[in-house]
Amino acid sequence: MQNKNIYITSPIYYVNGDPHIGHAYTSIACDIFTRWSKLQNNDVFFATGTDEFGQKIEKAAKSLNKDPIEICNEYSAKFKNLASILNVDYNDFIRTTQQRHTDKVQMFWTKIFDNNWIYKGKYEGWYAIRDEAFYDEKELINGKAPSGADVEWKSEECYFFKLSKFQNILELIYKNKQNFIMPQTRLNEIASFVKSGLNDLCVSRSNFEWGVKVPNNTNHVIYVWLDALTNYISILDYNSDSSLSGANYKKYWENANKKIHFVGKDILRFHAVYWPAFLLASIYNEESLQNLTIKDIEGEIPDTIFAHGWWTKDGEKMSKSLGNVVDPFETVKNYGCDKFRYFLFASNTFGNDGNFSENDFIAKTNSDLVNNFGNLVQRTLTIITKNFDGFIPQLSENSDFIKHSLLTTNLIDLINNDMNSFSFEKALQEIIKYSSLANEFIDKSAPWKLVKEGENGIKKAQDVMFILVFAILQIAQAFQSFIPSTSKKVFDFFNILPNQNGFYTNLQINHKNKTNPPQILFDRL
Ligand code: MSP
Repeated sequence: MQNKNIYITSPIYYVNGDPHIGHAYTSIACDIFTRWSKLQNNDVFFATGTDEFGQKIEKAAKSLNKDPIEICNEYSAKFKNLASILNVDYNDFIRTTQQRHTDKVQMFWTKIFDNNWIYKGKYEGWYAIRDEAFYDEKELINGKAPSGADVEWKSEECYFFKLSKFQNILELIYKNKQNFIMPQTRLNEIASFVKSGLNDLCVSRSNFEWGVKVPNNTNHVIYVWLDALTNYISILDYNSDSSLSGANYKKYWENANKKIHFVGKDILRFHAVYWPAFLLASIYNEESLQNLTIKDIEGEIPDTIFAHGWWTKDGEKMSKSLGNVVDPFETVKNYGCDKFRYFLFASNTFGNDGNFSENDFIAKTNSDLVNNFGNLVQRTLTIITKNFDGFIPQLSENSDFIKHSLLTTNLIDLINNDMNSFSFEKALQEIIKYSSLANEFIDKSAPWKLVKEGENGIKKAQDVMFILVFAILQIAQAFQSFIPSTSKKVFDFFNILPNQNGFYTNLQINHKNKTNPPQILFDRL
């Protein structure tokens, strides 16, 4: 019996450019939390994909003299490939140009429309194609969007969504739903934006073609953010007629124990303001929206929207024009997937901005992975091969070490809170700290000397080696969500088989299994 149904999503990526470190970062974060949740015996669904409609994609295609769908196919494949080289193990990958998605977007629109939340009007104001977002005059900074994107004046007929009517219910959510927006600092930012008053939102466009058609009015396409956000339910086969609901929609949305969206800080507003409003609008009309309590709506909206920070390169914003974009394909080719995954999450507090520099990357990899954990594994295997013919020694019953802290520490328990609160860097610090203790233990007890000190010395050396193997396996176990191939390698070194789905419970060390000859776990950079 599995514990909980957990739904995890990454943003769906725009197909107008090559994948970069930012895309890699969100996808790996989702993968880490997915693997962790699965190891805790939860039933997890991890959704990802590509965002293929909108003016930005149409414009990119035009500039390349291509059909929009051509560049969608090309770049969507690159994002799939990115997931594969990063060892990101998703359950499903949605493309918004797929009919399974467009059908559901129209269905979702119709629900909102039928609940009387949409009216026709005229939009006059600023639009940033790069952000696919509308901005008020008062939001502009030196004539540009707050993100720095160029804006254009738009004057077109459109359908409006009555976002202004959602201020109260959104404020109720921010106040009463714990962990709805994480980290906490971001909650304040969003809450004050909503408090300052919400305008109705233009949710259709009529001066270009590349989008999902508005039902019953083919002159309009649905605003790309309404279309894109719907991916989180279309991928689960959304159907608001619950008797027909797809099993996944029931399991991972309606009846999920936890629904978590990982996003970058730049797109938090779309997720924490528009998305819950759209979801509620698809269920309630204006009258039934009044007097709802947080209990009534809790299952209908996401549980957590976690906004992570942005990466810079050598202290500078990354951009194509500066030519300083960190290419995840290059980095993985040069250094390997696990070192990259490790650095992104060990070198920076998840939620804060991070900086990528080659020097820091090399220093962090060498100090934590090569010199610390890698060295521990290498030394341990060497001593076992040399002195014990490759067999893992047993801990003697009356050993002096029986209460040694390396044995009594349960590393998974130790990192549990950090993992569940997305403090991934803290969990990694704990693991590395434990690995340092194991290295200190090997230095202090000097088993290579003990084996030369007669029967008692050999017995003591056996105890030491058992503890070291135990410690290494605990570390490999705790590392599984972060650097899965490395963990597997370590278990293979010791010829220990992983459990089907779950941690290597109670670390069954089989003393009759022969370890493999010492091998290098990480190349020094
Ligand atoms: N298509 C929208 C998301 C729709 S979700 C319903 C989108 N796509 S994106 O490709 O532009 O960005 C995807 C993610 O990459 C965002 O979460 C964004 O924050 C992240 N990053 C883009 N550049 C980044 C950095 N330099 N650093 C970290 N993450 C950044 O937005």
